[in-house]
Amino acid sequence: MKPIESISYSVFFENSLKELSSFLINKKYSKVFVLVDSNTEIHCLPALQEALGSIEFDLIEVTPGEENKNIDFCIGIWRMLLDFGADRNSIMINLGGGVITDMGGFAASTFKRGIDFVQVPTTLLSQVDASVGGKTGVDMENVKNIIGTFTQPKAVYIHTQFLNTLSDRELRSGYAEVIKHGLIYDSSLFEKLKGIVPKDLSDEIIYRSIEIKNEVVITDPFEKGLRKILNFGHTIGHAIESYSLKHDKSPLLHGEAIAIGFICEAFLSEKRNGLKKEELAEIVKTIKDTYPAYKLNKTSYPDLLDIMKNDKKNNAGQISFSLLSEIGKCGYDIYCTEEEIFESLDYYISCS
Ligand SMILES: NC(=O)c1ccc[n+]([C@@H]2O[C@H](COP(=O)([O-])OP(=O)(O)OC[C@H]3O[C@@H](n4cnc5c(N)ncnc54)[C@H](O)[C@@H]3O)[C@@H](O)[C@H]2O)c1
Repeated sequence: MKPIESISYSVFFENSLKELSSFLINKKYSKVFVLVDSNTEIHCLPALQEALGSIEFDLIEVTPGEENKNIDFCIGIWRMLLDFGADRNSIMINLGGGVITDMGGFAASTFKRGIDFVQVPTTLLSQVDASVGGKTGVDMENVKNIIGTFTQPKAVYIHTQFLNTLSDRELRSGYAEVIKHGLIYDSSLFEKLKGIVPKDLSDEIIYRSIEIKNEVVITDPFEKGLRKILNFGHTIGHAIESYSLKHDKSPLLHGEAIAIGFICEAFLSEKRNGLKKEELAEIVKTIKDTYPAYKLNKTSYPDLLDIMKNDKKNNAGQISFSLLSEIGKCGYDIYCTEEEIFESLDYYISCS
């Protein structure tokens, strides 16, 4: 599988860690930093270390979890960079899931007005989605990704063996973005996913999923148009994720929340954008077969709406959606009313 060419960099798939090692040797950076969380330090750092051989690096470790993807942890990273003497010819290797690739990308893109960074994603979600496309950022006061930059990495290195140590739940979370890529862009990919479980995902499917994300972001790097289709399921999904982070003892993972968003927004797609009833039923079945039901309570609706109103994608106070017209095709900039949004949440409750 040849490297996927992105905006200004390549996404390496085969012998990727060796490719990273060659890249570092060629570029002669003054200092190399590796950002990990305590899980990727245990499960992923040894393979990276082996591939890097004698290349020296300083390690920066953060506590895992979405609740730590915030400016305080970022300050911690900047402080470590300063303490270790990072200059503008330094590079940061972000070795981890989407929290690490988003926050590490943000920390690197702002430190001394920007140092180079590469992404080495270690979860399914970060491999097929978060590491490609140049969006970096942190959350603030439970609003997801509200502070951030568009900065492209120097390269992305996909090593699918990292997924072997990922929990079933995390794998299923990332799988939501693979489903999304089929729903918005490639009906044959969606077909291939029927009847398989996340554990059965082949490298070919992961590769195709990355290709789709990449094709979309290349066409529209700054999300002025087509890139908005990647937000299918995310307007409602992000609100549910933020709500769950604040209120639930065991909060939903990103992909679990987005999967709820798929059902709600597929409902809106049928109502507003021509998605056929049978296709809506197919989507609901796929999600229900894969994800456990979430107890959504009507009392949460006003809070969910408030969170949606803060969404970066809105225009003049209206809540914006990307909605399917059929499986494999998606429109964007569709504004739904509060009543329609509540109806879609009711629909999720009625399905679960
Ligand atoms: N930038 C983008 O375009 C984009 C797109 C989608 C999602 N995201 C962001 O991605 C984040 C979610 O990413 P995620 O689901 O990867 O979460 P995550 O980074 O929190 O990783 C999930 C868990 O898995 C652990 N882990 C990581 N790799 C492992 C491995 N190989 N083996 C064992 N454990 C491992 C982590 O320590 C963590 O506990 C969210 O913050 C979301 O906003 C960003």
